[in-house]
Formats: sequence, C-alpha cells, structure tokens
Amino acid sequence: MQNKLISLVTRSANQSKNQVFSAIQPARYLNDLNKQQAGQDKTVLITGASSGLGEGMARLFAKLGYNLAICARRTDRLESLKSDLMATYPNIRVEYRALDVSDYEAIFTVFDTFAEDFGGIDRVVVNAGIGDSRRIGKGHFETNRRTADINFISALAQCEAAMNIFRAQNSGHLVVISSMSAMRGLPRHLTTYGASKAGLAHLAEGIRADMLLTKLPIKVSTIYPGYIRTEINEGSKPLPFEVDADTGTQAIVAAIEAGVEEACVPSLPWSMVGKAMKHLPLQVINKLS
Ligand SMILES: NC(=O)c1ccc[n+]([C@@H]2O[C@H](COP(=O)([O-])OP(=O)(O)OC[C@H]3O[C@@H](n4cnc5c(N)ncnc54)[C@H](OP(=O)(O)O)[C@@H]3O)[C@@H](O)[C@H]2O)c1
Repeated sequence: MQNKLISLVTRSANQSKNQVFSAIQPARYLNDLNKQQAGQDKTVLITGASSGLGEGMARLFAKLGYNLAICARRTDRLESLKSDLMATYPNIRVEYRALDVSDYEAIFTVFDTFAEDFGGIDRVVVNAGIGDSRRIGKGHFETNRRTADINFISALAQCEAAMNIFRAQNSGHLVVISSMSAMRGLPRHLTTYGASKAGLAHLAEGIRADMLLTKLPIKVSTIYPGYIRTEINEGSKPLPFEVDADTGTQAIVAAIEAGVEEACVPSLPWSMVGKAMKHLPLQVINKLS
C-alpha cells in the first residue's frame, strides 16, 4: 500500500514537472523527446491533417518516431505529406485515407480500418474543424448549423469511434482540439464557433470523468489554442497574440506529449488570458475577439 502511494506521488510529481517544462520551453522539451524517439512503435491518428495544425502535428509526431494514420478530404495534400514524411523519416509508417467528417458512418469505418491496418491506435487527435460561423440572427443559420455540426457532432462521432477502439484495447490517448474561444460566449462571427468548441471541451471533460469513474487507463487531453496563423484565419487582420503555425504546433504537440488534461497554447500568454477570460466583464472579452 505504502509503495503504491509512493509510486503514485512520484509519478504525478514527474508528470507535473514535464507539464511545466513542456509549457515553458516546448522546443527544448520536444528536442529531448526526439533524442529518445518517444513515439517509436506507436501510432497517432489525426483528422484534418491536410493543412494547418493537423499537418504541423503530423510533421512533429513523425519526427518523434510515431507511425501516422492521417485523414481529410484533400487527399492530394495527404499524398504529398506522406511522400515528404517517408523521404525524411524512412523508419516510420504513414497511411492516409479520404474522410469527410460530416459523413458520420465513414468516421467509424476509417478509424476501424486504420486500427486494423496498424494493429491498434495509441492516440487519436480530433482536429478537423471549420471557422466560418456568422453573427446570429442575420440569416446565416445554414453556415452556423454546419459549423456546429462539423466542430461538435462530427467531433462527437470521432470521440465515439476513438473510444470504441481504446476500450477494446484497454489503452489509448484521446486528444481534442478545442479553442480559447471556448472560454466565454463571444460576439460576431465567433458566437457559434466558440459555442461548438465549448461543447467539445465539455464532452472531453465528461469522457475524462468517465475514465476516472470506471478506472480505465485511457488518457483524455483538451487543447485550447489561441490565435495561430493557418488557412482557417487566412486573410484576417493581425489577431491578438497570434503566432505562426510552427510555433503553434510545437506548443500543441509538447502539451500532448506531456499528457496534460487541459492546456491553453502557447502557454504564454494564453494560460493567463484563459484564467482572466473566465472572470472579466463581457465588454473586455469583446476586445479579444
Ligand atoms: N488556427 C487557429 O488559430 C486555431 C485556434 C483554435 C482552434 N483551432 C482549431 O484547430 C483545428 C485545425 O484548424 P487549422 O487552424 O489547422 O485550420 P485549417 O488549416 O483550415 O485546417 C482545418 C483542417 O480540417 C479539415 N476539415 C475541415 N472540414 C472537414 C471535413 N468536413 N471533413 C474532414 N476534414 C475537414 C481540413 O481538411 P480538408 O479540407 O482537406 O478536408 C483541414 O485539414 C480546427 O479544429 C480549429 O477549429 C485553430
């Protein structure tokens, strides 16, 4: 009993140390993991891997030695990402499949096929998303419905498909890409987008609670990115505290590797902004959107 307690305390102390290191110096943290090839013999499935954060995560996970199961609608992009990765990292395996996440059935088929192909999946990153919601009450119900559908219902289907696999394996790591916009209700084009990302974050927390309750060894991480320059915000004016895609994906992958339950990324300034957002008046929150 005493030994078990000591090992639990040591494990959680090491985990917190890693989480602080990964948040403060993500590049150095990932460099250390690269040297150890932390992903060797493990497989990560990423949805929405054809551009932006999904593509960036695929590149960083490949560097860590992970095999990759990648999907999206633009298969030409996935094909060239695969060729690029196979040329740079010949020891890993990369497979891609076409997937439109609005086709819920296809999500289950694609995830199960990947699991069969690779003999299991160690981590699933629920990343595919869209950002084109519009002001409420201005005649854009269809656009807003689609945003809620892709960012929440399709994400729910991805969590279901991933958890089916993880429960059968009795292991796995579910990662959902939420957003800092989930912290509070936001105005203009962010209203439905933020609400869908808040729903996704709650969904992930509920799954985490269920894993605790049922004592299953399946980890659940919720990532809240701040503004990262990708196709989703292409052409928009400079955004508060925005970073480029390389900096953003480095912070995301470091947080995932450290096994966080929740992380605002990049940690500075977003972990502090996130805490403040929970309490600030809406007039101040509006300035961040
Ligand atoms: N960039 C940011 O500032 C930021 C901040 C917070 C959260 N996020 C979240 O991060 C995630 C990735 O976004 P990003 O910034 O990398 O934008 P992005 O470059 O536009 O990437 C979006 C990805 O989602 C995929 N996707 C969209 N609709 C899909 C569908 N119906 N079926 C399958 N895949 C679909 C796209 O692939 P195809 O078009 O090829 O299908 C693409 O690979 C999103 O969930 C986004 O909400 C981004």
